[in-house]
Amino acid sequence: MSYLYMKGINKSFPGVRALKAVDFKAEKGEVHAIAGENGAGKSTLIKILSGAYQPDEGQIYLDEKEIKISTPHSGRIQGISVIYQELSLVPYLTIAENIFLGNMPSKLGAVRRNEMNKRAKKALEDIGFDLNPSSLVKDLSIVQQQAVEIAKVLVEDAKIVVMDEPTALLPAREVETLFRVINTLRDRGVTVLYISHRLNEIFEMADQVTVLKDGSKVGTVRPADITQDELVQMMIGRKPADRIYWSPERVEKLKDAPVVLEVEGLMGEENLKGVSLALRQGEILGVAGLVGSGKSELVQCIFGVQQATGGKIKIRGEGLKHPSPGTLIRNKLGFLPADRKHLGLVLGMTIKRNATLTALPKLSKCGVVNQKKEDGVVSELIEKLRIKCYSLNQQVETLSGGNQQKVVMAKWLLPECEVLMFDEPTRGIDVGARSEIYELMVDYVNQGGAIINVSSDTQELLAVSDRIIVMGQGKMTGIFSRQEATEDKIVRAMF
Ligand SMILES: Nc1ncnc2c1ncn2[C@@H]1O[C@H](COP(=O)(O)OP(=O)(O)OP(=O)(O)O)[C@@H](O)[C@H]1O
Ligand SMILES: [Mg+2]
Repeated sequence: MSYLYMKGINKSFPGVRALKAVDFKAEKGEVHAIAGENGAGKSTLIKILSGAYQPDEGQIYLDEKEIKISTPHSGRIQGISVIYQELSLVPYLTIAENIFLGNMPSKLGAVRRNEMNKRAKKALEDIGFDLNPSSLVKDLSIVQQQAVEIAKVLVEDAKIVVMDEPTALLPAREVETLFRVINTLRDRGVTVLYISHRLNEIFEMADQVTVLKDGSKVGTVRPADITQDELVQMMIGRKPADRIYWSPERVEKLKDAPVVLEVEGLMGEENLKGVSLALRQGEILGVAGLVGSGKSELVQCIFGVQQATGGKIKIRGEGLKHPSPGTLIRNKLGFLPADRKHLGLVLGMTIKRNATLTALPKLSKCGVVNQKKEDGVVSELIEKLRIKCYSLNQQVETLSGGNQQKVVMAKWLLPECEVLMFDEPTRGIDVGARSEIYELMVDYVNQGGAIINVSSDTQELLAVSDRIIVMGQGKMTGIFSRQEATEDKIVRAMF
């Protein structure tokens, strides 16, 4: 029997069978990726393994013995730990306190701080991190925080470590660091289950990959034995679209297009140190840069969610005195923030309400919403973006992560905005739906809109942008027309 064997797992939610008789097997000391489209059931499967959800049917065996996992706590005690995407550390406790939270070494009730610090330092060193165990967690970078979480599960003697899209929030350079840690875990005989939408990561790291589709297992293969296209085909059941979304003619036409948005010497409180740009009607302007380069702050300051400390913003030639989200929306500008859990969606409302929130005036007459029209446009978007749901009246909090993201996209593509700004628009979106989103972006600019797309995915920038600017330390460090842009040039301009 395999080291880990989840047998005949069934799980239903109201309106959807999330897992259908899934048999999942993983060996000791392997990195096992789980892939599939948004809503395929990946998170549900690992939530069952970790004890966050109970299966309707099925058994779990670990090391030849059947185990019952009634709660995440019981899962941890039996050696199954999850590194959550929203990290669960306590920011105002020290590294060591976080690592030993819940099981601090104590003697007669007094915490033995020295021993705790020593053991925490050792656990971190084991995975290649040299950190002071008395530093506060709030001062750490994301990958350092992940390391603390991993050190924590190691002192708890984890047999299985689960990571659900651990690199979604990581800047490219830190991904390598995380991979080093994962390799250390593998060497120590820990089984790592790894969910990711990034195919190159699966091919770089995973010994095996299991593909889920619509709640069923498609198969388990060794990435070494197949091509990326074959994996995508397993995931989406068809050949991947291989398309380029820009054309030299389009770029040429843009030269005479009117400028819709102009920014002069924009400065922000944190990293933004004077950036100027002009966006033309019909243009997709890509913005590249590392975390802390000021690329997110740029769009946040334009939209007024962050107060600019200097500079000018002009919309269709008119200067804005006090940029605020309200004024910008009135001026037909839309913004999809990276942190969309808090800014993008109302989780307790339906897909339909969320999607049409900003478009209601367009769908109403004399203040009355035209229900039929509303249902029509939302249904169309659900189909176009392949949002996996059973009804447009389903609450968005019951959607999978990637499908929530698609609803946010729908919300901005509906109203008659003339300029849209996106910050990491396809984070967590599966490969199949990515190309749909790029197509929608191109449709949108072809109909007279303009887009600023901030992205850490260089491939994405190259696929859709007409022009790409690169940010570094709050300034523009490079600007390339699409013809001259290459991955190499962009990466070099970042540093
Ligand atoms: N708590 C819940 N209530 C109702 N439905 C749910 C719940 N959790 C998940 N689902 C549904 O189960 C299905 C599988 O969701 P799951 O989160 O496992 O997908 P996923 O493969 O992780 O997708 P993604 O790549 O978008 O994260 C989806 O149709 C989702 O809407
Ligand atoms: Mg998920």
